[in-house]
Amino acid sequence: MNGRLNNRVAVIIGAAKGIGAAIARRFAEQGALLVLSDVDGESGARLVTELGAERAVFLQSDVAVEADMQALAALAKSRFGRIDVLVQNAGIYPSYLLEDMTLAQWQHVLAVNLTGTFLAARACLPAMREQGGGRMVFTSSITGPRVANPGVAAYASSKAGINGLIRSAALEFARFGITVNGIEPGNILTEGLSAGRSPAFIDNMEKSIPLGRLGLPEDVANAALFLACDEASYITGTTLVVDGGQILPESKDFADPAAWQ
Ligand SMILES: NC(=O)c1ccc[n+]([C@@H]2O[C@H](COP(=O)([O-])OP(=O)(O)OC[C@H]3O[C@@H](n4cnc5c(N)ncnc54)[C@H](O)[C@@H]3O)[C@@H](O)[C@H]2O)c1
Repeated sequence: MNGRLNNRVAVIIGAAKGIGAAIARRFAEQGALLVLSDVDGESGARLVTELGAERAVFLQSDVAVEADMQALAALAKSRFGRIDVLVQNAGIYPSYLLEDMTLAQWQHVLAVNLTGTFLAARACLPAMREQGGGRMVFTSSITGPRVANPGVAAYASSKAGINGLIRSAALEFARFGITVNGIEPGNILTEGLSAGRSPAFIDNMEKSIPLGRLGLPEDVANAALFLACDEASYITGTTLVVDGGQILPESKDFADPAAWQ
């Protein structure tokens, strides 16, 4: 197979569904060997069957548990001998108003989205350092770093935190030949996004996007592929916005040329 990630070993966390599964499929198509992880064991096992057990292995694990992340890195080493790429994509996005949110709810979102990213990076660092290089790609969001909504304080804080982690880690790991970058998706049509939201809400979301459609998991997977490829070797400490132009408009009339003057 002559792919852009031929025989590179990629650890992908939050890989069982949605954006993570699309990244796993895109990387597999490009020749990568995959070490997949998720709390959802059933969907993870199904994905390995789809991709082929000679190319992919799955470990049911929780990104917020340090021992799980250590076990995941150890599995990558024992199965494929190295770790070339880490994609930390696991994330949760429950909605809580600040006045109602409990401390436990706040801490859970931060533990999975932000602390989990730190734990994943630290677990994969020794292998990359020993090899003299690697790629880390974290799924952030436009929510937090660029925009916000009522009900997303914990989520937005966790994703803004990921962008800070990216910058500091990029500086610390540059001397090891490791790049650290992120992706800021806009509204991407996944199970997670649709859960508990009415069709009218989704329709409204779509109207706020200049390119006129919600994103697909594959749109984010393409960005992850770029950041993991040789062509991105001089890019570190930054994030790529994948949002169909959603964060651009200053005015809600952006889609109506009659209102432009
Ligand atoms: N869908 C969007 O519109 C959107 C927008 C911006 C950012 N994101 C981010 O993209 C990532 C993926 O989102 P998605 O929409 O595909 O969500 P999803 O819910 O469809 O998939 C997320 C995956 O992460 C797994 N996961 C959850 N908690 C975990 C944990 N503790 N340990 C390991 N795995 C865990 C889930 O089981 C699931 O397979 C998330 O980090 C999310 O914040 C999504």
